[in-house]
Amino acid sequence: MSFALIIVSGPASPTLSSRVAHATGGASIQLEHKVFPDGETYIRFPKSVAGEMVAVVQSCYPPQNKNLIDLLFILDAARDMGAKETAAVVPYFAYARQDDAYRIGEAISARTVARMVEATGTSHFLTVDVPSNKALRFFTIHSENLTCMNLIAAYLKSLSLQSPYVLAPDDGAIPLAKTAADTLHTEYAWFEKSRDKITGAVTTTGKDVDLRDRDAIVVDDVISTGKTIANTARIAKRQGARKLIAACAHLLLVGDAEQTLRSAGVDLVTGTDSIETGSRPVSVAPVLAEALRKIW
Ligand code: R5P
Repeated sequence: MSFALIIVSGPASPTLSSRVAHATGGASIQLEHKVFPDGETYIRFPKSVAGEMVAVVQSCYPPQNKNLIDLLFILDAARDMGAKETAAVVPYFAYARQDDAYRIGEAISARTVARMVEATGTSHFLTVDVPSNKALRFFTIHSENLTCMNLIAAYLKSLSLQSPYVLAPDDGAIPLAKTAADTLHTEYAWFEKSRDKITGAVTTTGKDVDLRDRDAIVVDDVISTGKTIANTARIAKRQGARKLIAACAHLLLVGDAEQTLRSAGVDLVTGTDSIETGSRPVSVAPVLAEALRKIW
């Protein structure tokens, strides 16, 4: 290749960025970044990236508005600094869940985000286990939803669980459950979930699964309030599950989510470095690095 691959570390993803740089062999750039007293942010490239392929690694977890605007500033500045092409590498895609107007008048937030990202002139958008695949339909540039569930399942395998059984808390998580079950060489099932469009209250209907003497793994793309996983966990406990493990790509864990999960009987919550607010055992760097190698 006649160009260099540059990995730019967004302020939200310093650890993940260095792992992606290591996995790709790309050079990494640390930006100048500061927050002014009024909350506005400042981004500066310390050197030129003229003629280079620049991947900006910036996950958009809370505070998602700040992390998103920083991503846009960085992508825009990379083009100003002469980047040949840029890629937005955004493991957690904020606002993806609002992928349509489910009530008349609702802003289709995922579409607005896609439009803003594209307005920077970026050529690629890579994300991981997006809560809604529908959100990617708003991109006209190359966009890809990667999965890290095989990596999470490989980690779970190392825990020597007892006769594991995989559960998806809703039908959207079926592909994740299937991937995890394949890696763990076991079975999976999914529960039915409905969410009140106004209050956000979650109702779950279980399936008749015999979990006696088995460790149940509940997989999902994201844990926000923890209510989705907690509902599934309570049912699994009633069905005899021994240990309960929640395994998700993105651990937002807002408010008292961890307490909600503990009260529902969840023994372990595990996830990835897509969100850097805690130490996580699994890195999404290998899947991002592989995708970058494919596009450039
Ligand atoms: C939506 O269906 C997603 O896949 C998750 O299940 C959901 O966002 C989790 O949210 P919470 O943890 O607040 O129930």
